[in-house]
This record gives sequence, structure tokens and C-alpha cells, in this order.
Amino acid sequence: MLTNDKLSEWDRENFFHPSTHLAQHARGEAASRIVTGGKGVYIEDRDGNSILDAFAGLYCVNVGYGRTEIADAIAEQAKELAYYHAYVGHGTETSITLAKMILDRAPDNMSKVYFGLGGSDANETNIKLVWYYNNILGRPEKKKIISRWRGYHGSGLVTGSLTGLELFHKKFDLPLDRIIHTEAPFYFRRSDLEMSDEQFVAHCVAELEALIEREGADTIAAFIGEPVLGTGGIVPPPAGYWAAIQPILKKHDILLIADEVVTGFGRLGSMMGSDHYGIEADFITIAKGLTSAYAPLSGSIVSDRVWKVLEQGTDEYGPIGHGWTYSAHPIGAAAGVANLNLIDTLGLVANAGEVGTYLRQGLSEALSDISIVGDVRGEGMLAAVEFVRDRDGRVFFDAADKVGPQVAAALFERSKVIGRAMPQGDILGFAPPLCLTREEADIVVDAARDAVQTVAAKVR
Ligand SMILES: Cc1ncc(COP(=O)(O)O)c(C=O)c1O
Repeated sequence: MLTNDKLSEWDRENFFHPSTHLAQHARGEAASRIVTGGKGVYIEDRDGNSILDAFAGLYCVNVGYGRTEIADAIAEQAKELAYYHAYVGHGTETSITLAKMILDRAPDNMSKVYFGLGGSDANETNIKLVWYYNNILGRPEKKKIISRWRGYHGSGLVTGSLTGLELFHKKFDLPLDRIIHTEAPFYFRRSDLEMSDEQFVAHCVAELEALIEREGADTIAAFIGEPVLGTGGIVPPPAGYWAAIQPILKKHDILLIADEVVTGFGRLGSMMGSDHYGIEADFITIAKGLTSAYAPLSGSIVSDRVWKVLEQGTDEYGPIGHGWTYSAHPIGAAAGVANLNLIDTLGLVANAGEVGTYLRQGLSEALSDISIVGDVRGEGMLAAVEFVRDRDGRVFFDAADKVGPQVAAALFERSKVIGRAMPQGDILGFAPPLCLTREEADIVVDAARDAVQTVAAKVR
């Protein structure tokens, strides 16, 4: 336990926190927490609280906290060889082994993995490779990327543009040219309440086709989407969405990037979200669950079809002009190998499906009689509760009422459980470690009922 009394003060004075209200934090007005340890699904903070982290950090600590198998692998790697680069054909035993382990778990049409550090840079890599691909094929005009409103793909320049959330664009001069957005497959928020699931899928397809028509298929290079919308609200697609979208992309020769930063390696109860929904991607983005966040590592998995063109490109133009100093960092790779082994040994993919379903059913049953609960949804070990002012007319609260943040705060203050107020809309998200037990799921459900009832009594 840290004993430095000045830590909070130093934090406010020196530390620029991501995704934080900077002014409130600096003034000491915002909730903040100094985290000191973790074991299983629990973290501890400096005030001595034991907190059930039902969001696994940022849906990334998939194997849970305190796994010595991964810590030991990292320590051994650091002692043996902390670093060597991966440029001009260099590798290490762990990075080469991990690439093979990833390909063994990826869909059959995948060919190679490029390693980065986080989800944002992996998507940045994908977009560069898409542009390179079309240049090599002699199609310099085919460069635009279609993303979905409410998609989350990172917060860099291009990836922040791909992200379809207002907060990530506002005052940053984003989105950049070449990035265009289409409708999110968010059934609960459909504009026409009379639409069935099927009609809504047809509507999403029609919107996509209209966008392609307007922009011109010969200017559009790729479509990027998360199998399940994550940060945009934890929204599984309506049945048939991916089956309906893919033929349109194929017809117009538009590459498909499946952003599996959240869904990769078990979160949906399947090894990959692409398998779960029958997505045949040209690129798959992976990060978070690859190492369960024990060390930063991401990957851009490219398909055979893309790989062949990349090889052709380097035969024509020389080595690929793309790389980071820390690509395939041996410590990240060691964490990845140990993490993927642990996921297998502990049977966490199956557990995510089983206990995730149990958690969602529990939330549905416990919350359905509370009038502000409009929707309970999810897939695998992902769940969300969306709040509305009027359930029958599906009238949303004003953003200024901050109902989602109020519920997340009540959840923490009253029960010491972490759920995440998703950034757009009044949505409480859960994405616990994949090792969650039924008993722990019960704790989350009871805490959620208590928090939602508390806030409902105030805002009704
Ligand atoms: C689907 C998805 N893609 C990309 C990213 C960006 O990853 P990172 O924050 O590691 O850059 C995230 C982060 O939450 C994500 O959820």
C-alpha cells in the first residue's frame, strides 16, 4: 500500500488524464480514484475499498486481476530479453509464437499479424494498409472509409474520425476527409418504432447503399465495424445484420475491417466475434483481450487476399514504410502467450457465454419492473441497461440530467461495484472479466437493482 500523503495533490498538479473533465479534476471536484491492487474480479483502492470491477478496467482485463502466470512470464521475458525490435525481419521467440497462436484462433482466411501497442494504432495501421492496397492495385481514387455512427475505433486522427461519437470530434476538427459514417445497427434507437427487426436491418442496408451511391463505389475503399457496438452503447446487431451488409460490400469491392478490440478472444462466448456472427473480414483489429491488458499490445490481422497485394507492393516499391519502435515488443508478446494459454486452461470463452447469459437474464429480471429501464441487452460477457424517461413512448432523458452517470455513481457509492456510464446516451454498461462466477454475477445484479431504484426515485 502506498503511503505518500501527497499523491492526490501530485495527481492534480502533474497528471494529464485521458477522457477526463480536466478542469474539474484539477480543482479536485471530480470523482477520482487511486488504484493499488487487484485479484480476480476485484480491485482495491488507496482508501481501502474492495471494488467489484464489472467493467474489467476498460473491458480489457479479461482473465481477471492478479494472475501470476502472466506476471511471471513478463518477468522472465524482461530478465532474458526486455527488448529487441521487429524491423527488417527480426523477431523473438515470444513474438513469433504469439503470431502463430493468434492465427490459430483467427478465421481461416487470415494470413499474417502486424503487432502494435493499442487498438487505436492497430486501426491506424489498417487504414494505411487499405490505402496502400488500393494504390498497389492502381485505384488511387478508392480511399474513403465507411464507419458507423456510434462506432468506436480509437482516438487518434484517423481513428478518432472513424469513431462515430460526438465527444471525440467536437473541437478537434474531426472527422477528417475520406471518413464517412452510416447508420448504427441500434434497434432500440430506431427512428420508426413500428419497424420490426427485419425491417430495421433492411433500413440499415438501404442507408448503406444510398451512401455508396452518393459517394461513388469507386471512391470507397473499406467499411469498418465492431461485431457488437461497444463504447457507442453495447449494442448487439439485430439478427441478420452482418449477413445482409457483407454482400453489399463484396458487390462494390469494399474491404471489411472487423474491429475486434473488445470482442476478440472470448468476450462474446466465442473465440472471435467474426466467427460468432459469420463475418468474413479482410482485416481484424485486436488489442485488449490479447494480453488482458497485462502489457500493451495490439494486432492488425490481415487476410490472404490483402497479404498477396502487400507482397506485390514490396516487390515493386521496396520495404513497407510502416513500423513502430515497439511493434511486437517482447514483454507484450510474453504477456500475450501466457494470457491466451490461460484463457484456454481456464475455459474462459465458454464461461463468458454461460455466466454472461446468466448475468444478462439476472439484470432483465431484476430491472424490468423499474419504469426508467427501457432496454436490457448484450451478448456473451457484455451487458447494457438503457434508461428512458417514458418507456411506452420511448422518450429519452435530457443529456443534462446525467441519468446514466448518476446510476454508475450510485452503483459505486452504495455497493462498491463498477459499471460504466457509456459516453453517449443514458446507458450503464457491464463487461466483467471473463472469469466472473454466478455468485459474483448475483452481486452485480443486486447492486444494479439498488442503484437503478435509487436514481429512479430521484428522477421520476
Ligand atoms: C472497438 C475498439 N477499437 C479500438 C479501440 C481503441 O483502443 P485503444 O484505446 O487501445 O487505442 C477501442 C478502445 O476502447 C475499442 O473499444
